[in-house]
Amino acid sequence: PVKVGVIGGGSVFTPELVDLLARSYREMPVKEMVLMDINLPRVEILLGIAQRIVARAGVSFPIRVTQDYQEAIKDADYILIQLRAGDQAGRITDEKIGLKYRVPFVETVSVCGLGTFLRSIKIYEDIAGLIRTLAPNAYVMNFANPAGPLTEYLLRLGISRTIGVCNVPVILGQYLGDIYHEPPEAFYMQTRGLNHLTVTDAIYLDGRDILPDLLPRVEPYKFPMPFSHHVIEAFPAVFNPYYQYYFHGQRIMNKLLQAEKTRGEEVLQIEQELLRLYSDPAVDQVPDLLRSRGGFGYSLVVVRLMLSLYRNDDTIHYVNVRNNGVLAELPDDTAVEIPVMIKQGRVLPIETGPLPHYAAPLIITMAEYYRLLLDAAQERSKKALRQALLVHPLFPDADMSDQIIDEMLEINRDYLPAS
Ligand code: G6P
Ligand code: MN
Repeated sequence: PVKVGVIGGGSVFTPELVDLLARSYREMPVKEMVLMDINLPRVEILLGIAQRIVARAGVSFPIRVTQDYQEAIKDADYILIQLRAGDQAGRITDEKIGLKYRVPFVETVSVCGLGTFLRSIKIYEDIAGLIRTLAPNAYVMNFANPAGPLTEYLLRLGISRTIGVCNVPVILGQYLGDIYHEPPEAFYMQTRGLNHLTVTDAIYLDGRDILPDLLPRVEPYKFPMPFSHHVIEAFPAVFNPYYQYYFHGQRIMNKLLQAEKTRGEEVLQIEQELLRLYSDPAVDQVPDLLRSRGGFGYSLVVVRLMLSLYRNDDTIHYVNVRNNGVLAELPDDTAVEIPVMIKQGRVLPIETGPLPHYAAPLIITMAEYYRLLLDAAQERSKKALRQALLVHPLFPDADMSDQIIDEMLEINRDYLPAS
């Protein structure tokens, strides 16, 4: 039986996670689940619905809440990190900066990714310190965003069993499954890069590469490639949907400027409604409304991963781990998103070949951006932060990015005590 510690247990995604753990209980019994959150009233709402979901599934395991990181971490087998430093309010503040300076953004891209990262630094350092002493053998699954740099920061802080997860590869698998009427596991995707910046230049089904058949069927401005048809036709690969912020920055910026609400403001409303549903004692399953959140399906990735590690079932997952030379173009300590196989409790990287020449430049650039960002964090160095933004293609003007840095450091100063 496993102990599962959830940091950020007050997340609206907790019911999905609990539901899946309850459904897999017979294969992987849970001896204890600890939902840790700094917001006690909120995590208590989540505890209520979590307990009703478990009861409805006809199983039983203890779930408790705490505000203390140590209780969630100590002796845990799996530590799941799903916190959002500064909450949606922080996200909205970042979005306003993106609008003010006209930098294309979304939760994990440019200003928003930067803001959340800055707010998370100290929290992650504290968590890493506790994991080192209280749960050195735990698997740590980070799905807090920006997942790329935060996963890399945990790795850098010595938490080598960190796995960063995202739902994009799983949604891509489901999309393929729908088109070809096969289960998602039937496909092997030659996917690699960074989180939210992957490129897939082969997809195998029954030993055959179906990409040449798939690409002409991909619709413009829709998942998996929300790009113009010229972009889709340009290269023989499926690019991660987040490439739209780089390929179509102007178009995105215009849309952002015209929108009545930012995504953060929308999400705030969805969350209020979800919390209202979760507080209702009659609600004992995951509401459909959760599907309107981009993170829907995250818990599936995480629970599958936990099950694989628990059962050693030789399955493939698409996750973020330390590069260790797999992508020869990138530093060894970059967190890369690649296929891995889980065997005997080991996370084994699968060799995917070099990055396509047309995809390598941006991926290398962004890996360098993250490296500098982590240097800035670790050394509390404004100079390194400035270097990071000078490297990042979505911050095209140095005077402007200096202003953004000053503004962000000022707004978030409470989150950034000296190390
Ligand atoms: C996608 C990404 C997640 C991200 C989410 C945003 O699913 O993979 O990393 O958190 O979208 O969704 P939201 O509902 O918060 O805008
Ligand atoms: Mn993601």
